[in-house]
Amino acid sequence: MLTAEANQRITQVGAGTPMGELMRRYWIPIRPVAQLIDEEVMAVRILGENLVLFRTRNADLGLVGEFCPHRMTQLKYGYPDDFGLRCCYHGWMFDTEGQCIDTPMEAQDSTFKDRIRVKAYPVKEMGGLVWAYMGPKPVPLLPPWDLFVIPNSIRQIGIAELPCNWLQCHENTGDPTHSAYLHGHYFKYILEKESRLNNRAADNPMHTLYGRIKLEKGIESLWANPTSHGMEKGINYSKALGAERDYQSRHSTVIFPFYTQTGGPGQVRQEFQIRVPIDDTNTYHINYGCYIAPDQIKAPQQDVIPWYEVPLFDDKGKPLLDFVLAQDAHAWISQGPVTDRTREHLGRTDVSIIFMRQQFEEQMLLVEDGGEPMNVFRNSKTMPDLIHGGKWDENDASVTGGSSALSSFRSAYHKGYGIDDADRYGPLMLQIIEIMRQTEELANAKTD
Ligand code: FES
Ligand SMILES: [Fe+2]
Repeated sequence: MLTAEANQRITQVGAGTPMGELMRRYWIPIRPVAQLIDEEVMAVRILGENLVLFRTRNADLGLVGEFCPHRMTQLKYGYPDDFGLRCCYHGWMFDTEGQCIDTPMEAQDSTFKDRIRVKAYPVKEMGGLVWAYMGPKPVPLLPPWDLFVIPNSIRQIGIAELPCNWLQCHENTGDPTHSAYLHGHYFKYILEKESRLNNRAADNPMHTLYGRIKLEKGIESLWANPTSHGMEKGINYSKALGAERDYQSRHSTVIFPFYTQTGGPGQVRQEFQIRVPIDDTNTYHINYGCYIAPDQIKAPQQDVIPWYEVPLFDDKGKPLLDFVLAQDAHAWISQGPVTDRTREHLGRTDVSIIFMRQQFEEQMLLVEDGGEPMNVFRNSKTMPDLIHGGKWDENDASVTGGSSALSSFRSAYHKGYGIDDADRYGPLMLQIIEIMRQTEELANAKTD
């Protein structure tokens, strides 16, 4: 439980709020680059600020304030020129730094434009995403978290705008046991109710819902530890309590401040789930899928990383509940625009949620004291070309989640399991299936 004040402190993201100031220390992914190729000028809302993202005719990116300073027309109606964005009304043009560089209807020798600026934030491209930095100068480096840059991979970007605060989406990652119910028992109930259980999950040992249900057996306690980049967490199992053996499981990695990473070394399918705050009551949720081919297989070349929308409702407006991300998303949205944490009752399954809240509080205090929070990188000589967010040990089954690259349903698309995740709406299904198929052939050849 939190007090109302503590709940506000940890959820609100506007400029000048403690969490808003912490969030403004990071590069934030705001749109897929591929979307900007189709829509050169786009209204975006990030951390409670209305902004306009654009791409000039010379393909430079800019992110500026919403209103033209001439007579306050919205720049989302602007259009791109070689060196900037032109306002639709009288053609004033702003470059990617927000400087006005043309006032075509003023006198030719006028220096008026030199004194006119709009707010502008730096933007960059990485991994098929446009990233913005909305914090104080100097601007930090854009960290190459592994899935955005790892070679020999194909990628696709799923987007869902969710009408709820970003933290309830992110707290899901501090909650490993929800899987047993939401993605296990409840998934089973939904498929049974629609008479699709046999069709979708006939292969009992392989289907995710049965694996998830098993998760509840023999839990002794939950654990959470800090890592250099965030948090790791999992469950301690006890044979005496009904588990197959005494062991410690490890769940998805958490990278501060808003990333969850599923999958691990050696696994073909890995994913970042990124909870970007649009404002206090809306979240731009990115599921960034990266499908990594083993060295012996060549992943197809991708000139543009495609994106797709993740639907949460069917054509009749009924909630979709038969894939993992939709189950999560409906649970988060149902908690309300901002979860009222004064009314919650945390139990033993919430150990890592409490840990995450403490980590956020520590980092907010650091920023309030003028310090630099974690995961802000400034030295290009010491920043590696690729950063693994968590523990990375190919021989540790607790990290990889299994003994083989194809042991999980998430690596068995070619056996029909791709439909259990949001990836089923993405454009890469056939290519992913082909990588999975070849990877399995390779694994079989090794064991023959
Ligand atoms: S209102 Fe933008 S140029 Fe006049
Ligand atoms: Fe989940």
